[in-house]
Amino acid sequence: MKVDVLLGLQWGDEGKGKVVDVLTPQYDVITRFQGGPNAGHTLEFDNFKHVLHNIPSGIFHADKVNIIGNGVVLDPITFKKEIDSLKDKGFDITKNLYISKKAHLILPTHRILDAASEASKGKTKIGSTLKGIGPTYMDKTGRNGLRVGDILHDFEAKYAALKEKHVKMLEMYDFEYNIEEFEQGLQEGIETLKSCIIIDSEHEINKYLKNGKSILAEGAQGTLLDIDFGSYPFVTSSNTICAGACTGMGVAPNKIGEVYGIFKAYCTRVGSGPFPTELFDETGEELRKAGHEFGATTGRPRRCGWIDLVALKYSVMINGVTQLIMTKGDVLSGFETIKAATAYKLNDGTVTEEFPFELTDDVEPIYTEIKGWKEDLTGVKSEDEFPQELKDYIAYLEKELEVPIKIVSVGPDREQTIVR
Ligand code: GTP
Repeated sequence: MKVDVLLGLQWGDEGKGKVVDVLTPQYDVITRFQGGPNAGHTLEFDNFKHVLHNIPSGIFHADKVNIIGNGVVLDPITFKKEIDSLKDKGFDITKNLYISKKAHLILPTHRILDAASEASKGKTKIGSTLKGIGPTYMDKTGRNGLRVGDILHDFEAKYAALKEKHVKMLEMYDFEYNIEEFEQGLQEGIETLKSCIIIDSEHEINKYLKNGKSILAEGAQGTLLDIDFGSYPFVTSSNTICAGACTGMGVAPNKIGEVYGIFKAYCTRVGSGPFPTELFDETGEELRKAGHEFGATTGRPRRCGWIDLVALKYSVMINGVTQLIMTKGDVLSGFETIKAATAYKLNDGTVTEEFPFELTDDVEPIYTEIKGWKEDLTGVKSEDEFPQELKDYIAYLEKELEVPIKIVSVGPDREQTIVR
């Protein structure tokens, strides 16, 4: 058996949570392989809505195994809150949630370092979610970090030593903090983690494959936020691309099967960083309103713009996408004309169809215009009911991206999913 990977092709928030939830019935095991509580995967079904941060989106299917892989960073405090809020809603998930011993721990001082570092950057801030994720990955590569397996022996002493290092590092910032405030709930969080099933996930995952079990790996954030290939430095701290699934789970590249690439019918971005197709006009505002484009984790309004095929082609290439999934098709209903960027004019006047090394703010998108549709899509049950203009839009995107669009999502609910 192979691992199928599902990931975002834009700047995150493509609707991965919903699509994983829809695909979960086809799989035995659902995993997360990178990122941390900066992810906010929103799931809606049977008039129930829930946002997941660390926990894989297969959790609402009691018969599925959910694994938090080694590539994830986990904050015991927010993790406990997540478990508690699921318990409050009647889901006891401790039996079908496994956590890798090798996942790194986000500690209170990582959050302080995150806040201090972002504050020191002033205008050049990268738009961190301030959840301590960057400093935790820095400790991982700096070989200082603590992992989930470390809570099993002498955690207090290990934490005290790392905290001391962090406090010294904080001296270089002009930043006031109250460490006790940040540490509130840590002990309880560690106890909750201890009560979970902590495993050597790379062994377990490979055993599942050997024994014929199907696995879906769920990406967080998006390809354009990848630490290597995204719009650096305005990126996240992990490899969000398909290769990240190999390192974040311990599976070999030849064990990767389908690669599902998810994109919105338009484009959004949260926080700072270049965004060539961003709209600052009424159309951008209309997209934001129609698409309810406000962050699931932070509540921040998302920046909105037209679909960017230069960036999407790049994402398809980097990930080896085999199937495309387009979400939020319903949001484009009512737009007379839809635009798609097919090239960029760079600030030296050259025109390129390739995603450039430096994506500056003054990159000018070159657009193709496509006729829009008026019909509301939210009640559509099959592809036959799609307006002709939507069919044309899909055909155009498939031709440009050279990968079939297999699923079109027309609303947040599980039911509002058209498989082609
Ligand atoms: P990140 O990993 O944090 O990037 O999250 P995500 O990709 O899972 O996306 P998120 O859940 O943050 O945002 C998607 C939002 O769009 C959620 O509120 C979903 O309920 C909603 N959504 C998903 N698909 C559709 C769709 O086809 N139409 C509409 N209108 N909303 C959708």
